[in-house]
Amino acid sequence: MGVNLGIDFGGSSIKAGLVDVAHGHIVGGTVAVPTPHPSTPHAVVEAIRALDAQLPHADAIGFGFPSVVKAGRACTAANIDAAWIGTDVGSLLREAFGRPAAFLNDADAAGLAEMRFGAGRGVSGTVLVFTFGTGIGSAPFIDGRLLPNTEFGHLEMRGGSAELWASARVRTELALGWAEWGARVSEYFAQMERLFWPDLMILCGGVSTHFDQFARYLETRAPVRPAALGAEAGIIGAALAAT
Ligand code: BGC
Repeated sequence: MGVNLGIDFGGSSIKAGLVDVAHGHIVGGTVAVPTPHPSTPHAVVEAIRALDAQLPHADAIGFGFPSVVKAGRACTAANIDAAWIGTDVGSLLREAFGRPAAFLNDADAAGLAEMRFGAGRGVSGTVLVFTFGTGIGSAPFIDGRLLPNTEFGHLEMRGGSAELWASARVRTELALGWAEWGARVSEYFAQMERLFWPDLMILCGGVSTHFDQFARYLETRAPVRPAALGAEAGIIGAALAAT
């Protein structure tokens, strides 16, 4: 196993790093470019080219993206340009870079990394991994096996999608304090627990690096752990998927 380029698409920036896939670490640092607007497939491929050019050669490319992904195609566009729907992104990347490429949901990517190398390592039973960012992403694991493409951030809560109530973006936009946001996340987690009875929940996304500030406001039945790989879980998982 070698080094793959892992890419994580976010609402404000696209981040990448070279990942040693056998050990699950980023080699050197991460690089980022602002997310293009509009973020059409063509503009994003150009952004990835700029990221790839800043790093040593990678064997393969993995791209985690906020969409349902079936057979390399984006199927939904909740917080992204609608031009992605139906695009065969796997093939687009393979043609653009002449290397093997994997395209997958961003929360599935973060979940794969956390289960293999992070907070879920060695944990059996039902583990729910969530990413809190622009939206809320979900990745359920049963005895370490992922059920891909779940969209639990779109569970209906308070008359809309749960992610419009409890995402990290909502916290920033409404300038919610940790207690207030923690109460919203707890309400969301209570719904998840009522439906799935997880043994563990893992909270990923940039906000997980502030876990110490809001952990005391989370009221759940199952334990909640922050991402052990921090904000880099998505990059690492995308690279793992390209192996
Ligand atoms: C998308 C998911 C994605 C999540 C986190 C949601 O809006 O529908 O596919 O995983 O945001 O980015």
